[in-house]
Amino acid sequence: MATRISTFDDWVDLLKDWRAEIGLDLELIDRHVPGYKLEAKYGELASDEISFGSFAGGKKWERLLDVPDQRIRDSILNMVIFQGDTEFASNEQQRFLLSNAPSEYDLASLARIMLEETRHGFQMCHLLITHFGADGKIEAQKMLERRAFGKKNRLLRAFNEDVTHWLDFFTYTNFMDRDGKFQLTMLSHSAFAPLSRSMLPMLREESFHMGTGISGLRRIAQAAVIPVALQQKYYNKWISGSLDLFGTDHSRSARWAYAWGIKGRDDEGKTDEPVALESLNERARARFYDEIARTVDQVNSVNPAEKLYVPDARFNRKIGDHSDEHWSVDGRRLSDDEWAAYAPSVLPAPEDEARLAELFKNPNWIAPKGRTNEG
Ligand SMILES: [Fe+2]
Ligand SMILES: [Fe+2]
Repeated sequence: MATRISTFDDWVDLLKDWRAEIGLDLELIDRHVPGYKLEAKYGELASDEISFGSFAGGKKWERLLDVPDQRIRDSILNMVIFQGDTEFASNEQQRFLLSNAPSEYDLASLARIMLEETRHGFQMCHLLITHFGADGKIEAQKMLERRAFGKKNRLLRAFNEDVTHWLDFFTYTNFMDRDGKFQLTMLSHSAFAPLSRSMLPMLREESFHMGTGISGLRRIAQAAVIPVALQQKYYNKWISGSLDLFGTDHSRSARWAYAWGIKGRDDEGKTDEPVALESLNERARARFYDEIARTVDQVNSVNPAEKLYVPDARFNRKIGDHSDEHWSVDGRRLSDDEWAAYAPSVLPAPEDEARLAELFKNPNWIAPKGRTNEG
C-alpha cells in the first residue's frame, strides 16, 4: 500500500480530512470547547525501570531500537494500532449525538469527549509516525481509512456499532470507556517508555468520560421516565460488548505481552498476587466486571425502587470461551431456538428504538445536571 505520509504534519492534514468526512460539526464542537488544542502529550513516569516480565530491573526502552526482539516490536506496534483504532472509532460511533443532546451542558461534555478521543488517536499516531518508520506511517494512514459505519471495519466488533442516542451514549461511556481505562492502565506499565508515558494524560481524560457516563445514567434513573427494563437493554448491550474487549480466554498474546513486559496487569505494582500467565485476560475481565457492578449499584442508589443489574458474564459474548454458546442474563444455558426468542427481551430491538424516540420527546426523560444527588 502506498503511503501519502512523509511527516507527522502530512498525517495531520489527513486527520482534518477524516474529521470532515465523518460528518462532525467541527464549528459546533469548537464553540463548546473553546481553545482546545489537539496535541501529543507525554506524562512523567514514576520509574524508568521495567517492573515485571523477563526484562524486569532493566531500563525502559526509549526507542524502538532499544527493544530487544523483532517479535516484541511487532507486538507493541499492534497494541498501538488497536488502541488508536478504538479512539477514532468512538468519534465515528458518536457522530449523531451532536444533533440530539438533552442540554447545552451535555453537548459541552460530548464535545470535550469527542475532542479528547480524537486526541487519543492523535497520540497513538504520533507514536506510530515517530517510532515505527514506514510501517508506522502506513498504519497511521489506515487508522483514518477504516470506518465504524459503512465499511464497519474497525478492528474490534463493539467499535462498529452506532451510538445513536443518549441512553446509548451514557451506557457506552460508563462501560466501554471503562474498558478503555483498564487497557490504558495495563499499557501504562509498558517497558516501551513512549507508550507508557502516553497513557498518563490519556487516563486523566478517560476519567471524565466515565464520570459523564455514570452521572448520565444516574440522572436517567432519577427522572424515572424511561422504563428500567428498557434502560437495562442498553446496559446489556454495552456490558457484553465491553467484556469482549478483554480478548480471548487463555490468550497466548496476553501471556507474551506480560512476559515481555509490554502490557501489565491493571493493578501491576499494587498487588502481591503471583501472576497467572494463562489467565491474564480472564483476570482483567473479572476485575472490570466487579467494578462495573459497583457503578450499577451507584445508579441503583438513586432510585432503589427498580433495580438495574449486571448480566451474567457469559451473556451475549462474541469472544472467549462462551462465544459459541447462548446464556441468559441470569446465567441459564439456552438453545439456539430459545435464544432467538429470548434475545429481543433483553437486548435493544427496533421497537425499543422507536419507543425511546417517543420518550425522548419528553424533555424530562433525564434529570437536569446538578439537581440530583449524582456524584
Ligand atoms: Fe480514549
Ligand atoms: Fe474515552
